[in-house]
Amino acid sequence: MCGIIGYVGNKDAVPIIVDGLKKLEYRGYDSAGIAVYKQNSFDVVKQKGRLAALEARLAERPLSGRMGIGHTRWATHGEPSDVNSHPHVGSKNKIAVVHNGIIENYKHLKERLEHWGIPFASQTDSEVIAQLAEHYYNGDLLDTVIHVSTVLEGSYALGVMCVDDPDILIAIKKDNPLIIGVSDHGNFIASDVPAVLKHTNKVYYLNDKEIAVLRNNSVEFFNIDKEPLEKPLETITWNLDSAEKGGYPHFMLKEIMEQPKILRETINSAVNNYKSVIDTLDVAKFNKIVITACGSAYNAGVVAKYVFERLCRFPSVETELASEFRYRDAVINEKTLVVLVSQSGETADTIAAMREAKSKGAVTLSIVNVVGSTIAKEADFCLLTAAGPEIAVATTKAFSAQLVLLYILAVWFAVKLGKITQKVEQELMSQIAALPEKAEDILKQIDSIQKYASTCVGYKSIFFIGRNIDYAIALEGSLKLKEISYIHSEAYAGGELKHGTISLVEEDTLVVAISNCATLYGKIMSNAEQVISRGAKVLLIGNCPAAKPDDKLFCIALPESSELFSPSLSVIVLQLFSYYVAANKGLDIDKPRNLAKSVTVE
Ligand code: AGP
Ligand code: GLU
Repeated sequence: MCGIIGYVGNKDAVPIIVDGLKKLEYRGYDSAGIAVYKQNSFDVVKQKGRLAALEARLAERPLSGRMGIGHTRWATHGEPSDVNSHPHVGSKNKIAVVHNGIIENYKHLKERLEHWGIPFASQTDSEVIAQLAEHYYNGDLLDTVIHVSTVLEGSYALGVMCVDDPDILIAIKKDNPLIIGVSDHGNFIASDVPAVLKHTNKVYYLNDKEIAVLRNNSVEFFNIDKEPLEKPLETITWNLDSAEKGGYPHFMLKEIMEQPKILRETINSAVNNYKSVIDTLDVAKFNKIVITACGSAYNAGVVAKYVFERLCRFPSVETELASEFRYRDAVINEKTLVVLVSQSGETADTIAAMREAKSKGAVTLSIVNVVGSTIAKEADFCLLTAAGPEIAVATTKAFSAQLVLLYILAVWFAVKLGKITQKVEQELMSQIAALPEKAEDILKQIDSIQKYASTCVGYKSIFFIGRNIDYAIALEGSLKLKEISYIHSEAYAGGELKHGTISLVEEDTLVVAISNCATLYGKIMSNAEQVISRGAKVLLIGNCPAAKPDDKLFCIALPESSELFSPSLSVIVLQLFSYYVAANKGLDIDKPRNLAKSVTVE
């Protein structure tokens, strides 16, 4: 959600910023812009639409300069348009700002500034930041940024330049991510590491209300009281290859295909690094586990609820949407373990849920993919998934890594609670260790999945059903499909069909049924029969001895596996199915409309 990149250095900032914005495209955006410092003023180009449109404008009106800021905007306040795009420059043409986040008190601030005669150009909340900064400006940009930050309510990551300071770029953040990159030719601010990785693998992670002052050959940090701060310089160990398509038509397909490797690496890293961490956790003191997350990460939590319950026999395991949990005043305390699941580690609702849990004394444990992210840093315990950078907006490999880490956690908890023997632990761990190879076997069926998906492009609506843990993974199948194919879709517990949804089933409706629970084969098959007898077609994923494929029933068998861990296999078929439906529709799979990779606003 929104991408910020800024540069001050010896090179021309414009190509560096445009390239950085391209690396941030995955975050989702609807317009883009760039401003460079130029002889006591700013040169600004802003454009609605994709970066290609901004590049076309830059070809007509070339910019250059040694310091600049760029932005991809995911509109929250004001329609996507040229004028609402960032950067925003105050009406005195003195201060330019890029902003990620939402200024909640912007209306009040805007009214005050307008009352003082300051004219506004855009409908955005962000413009108040530039106007306020100009209003408070006293010749010292650092003082000004500090002053502005005390007035703003809401969330922000900011890059700020002033015409009086041709070589100073200032950054500050609250509740939205920002990193600082340092290189031998200049320094950077960015929303995420890929934007700077071409130039440097040395970065600082900015914490809330910390300020970075960048010049071409120095970076200084201050707290909100203007006291200097020492921060650790971190080295990024992955390279840009992980953020390139590597010959695949889309990042999503590349990331789906990487899953066997990611599963292996996540399992190895868990066993090598985290067993000892979990050993320090007094699991027996908890009487409740709450898993909270958003979107796909929430779906991983729904799967995990079944696994934790089955293995740990815990009195209470709840999975809840972070956006609901944060405002529910949940009954939790120091006897509650709150598990936060997040690929980005920056999802605003999940961060808020974590802070709410901590404020009530709960112990927090996060499962996160991005090192140095807010949730990774703030949770009491953090287990990192080894998925590497995930670029496609629709998550695949990070979801699989979350699942497998949650299984392992459940097994370890069960041992600590004395619910399973060491022998059972070993059996379960070897079933988990076998998942990567089984994932490879599924990927060998790619041609038949592709062929089947190519016949499904015309559906207006597709339903997903499953029972027990298959229902949990049906939720993810449905989300994946709607995200990238724009086909309406819903997931239902098989037993719920007859309580309402079946009224929507008609001639040639498609129902995807997932079937991995041996004791429920008969039940899910009955559900399939019920919809087939009303004219529907069924795609059955999994196993079911009674299934006899015909023109109404297509089956994709999965390798034998433990029912508890089967979601890791079903999901690969579901991802490929969604991917090929969307690909056959010719859609922008990696950047679906209206969606952002990392949802840093409410
Ligand atoms: C998944 O495909 C979606 N892009 C979305 O639901 C995502 O899982 C959700 O926004 C949570 O993101 P996080 O894992 O980075 O917290
Ligand atoms: N709220 C701001 C706007 O609508 C910033 C959105 C973003 O983070 O991209 O312009």
